[in-house]
Amino acid sequence: MGKTKRIAVLISGRGSNMVSIVERLCSEKEPVGEVVFVFSNITDAQGLEKAKNFGIETLSFSHKIYSSRKEFDEAVASEIEKRDIDLVCLAGYMRLLSKGFIRKFRNRIMNIHPSLLPSFTGLDAQGQAFDWGVRYTGCTVHFVDEELDHGPIILQRTVEVLQDDTKESLTDRILEMEHQIYPEAVDLYCRDKLKVEGRKVSII
Ligand code: GAR
Repeated sequence: MGKTKRIAVLISGRGSNMVSIVERLCSEKEPVGEVVFVFSNITDAQGLEKAKNFGIETLSFSHKIYSSRKEFDEAVASEIEKRDIDLVCLAGYMRLLSKGFIRKFRNRIMNIHPSLLPSFTGLDAQGQAFDWGVRYTGCTVHFVDEELDHGPIILQRTVEVLQDDTKESLTDRILEMEHQIYPEAVDLYCRDKLKVEGRKVSII
């Protein structure tokens, strides 16, 4: 295993997945990775406060002050590069990334999505699954590529849709599962245990 990995987490809201990653990394006996930077495109995102309480450096600026996605992403990428980051974790970051950003950090950007991909991409994945009437849904951690919710899958976990579920109760159970698999995937990355070949990720 190489040096302790430096991790940036990008959020747009509550930041509960970011917290689950931080807590897992802090609980390791031998540190394998550290969240050193949390960025948000939403200046009053709840998660920023949570990150500060952990003593993590935060930064936020709005995409609205940039004239294009490319320019905004270049500004974010430059903040990430300044901090010598190994892994970028998207955790409820509700922005599509430009091709340039993805190219810069190829196979070093992870995302969590609240469905079993490739089903139910995009917004409100839990609601889409609930309305479809599936018996099982779940969540996926994947590397990010140029297409939406599409890159190589690292981990997935299923969640059963129960007879008396509402969209809200289902969403809550999926979120609990997210909080298990995202830290697991980050831990595997930090231990150099993920090998990507085309669409396939092996755990070595
Ligand atoms: C999570 O459910 C995450 O899977 C979802 O947003 C929520 C963020 O919660 N992300 C997406 O839908 C991305 N397509 P959090 O801010 O508490 O981590």
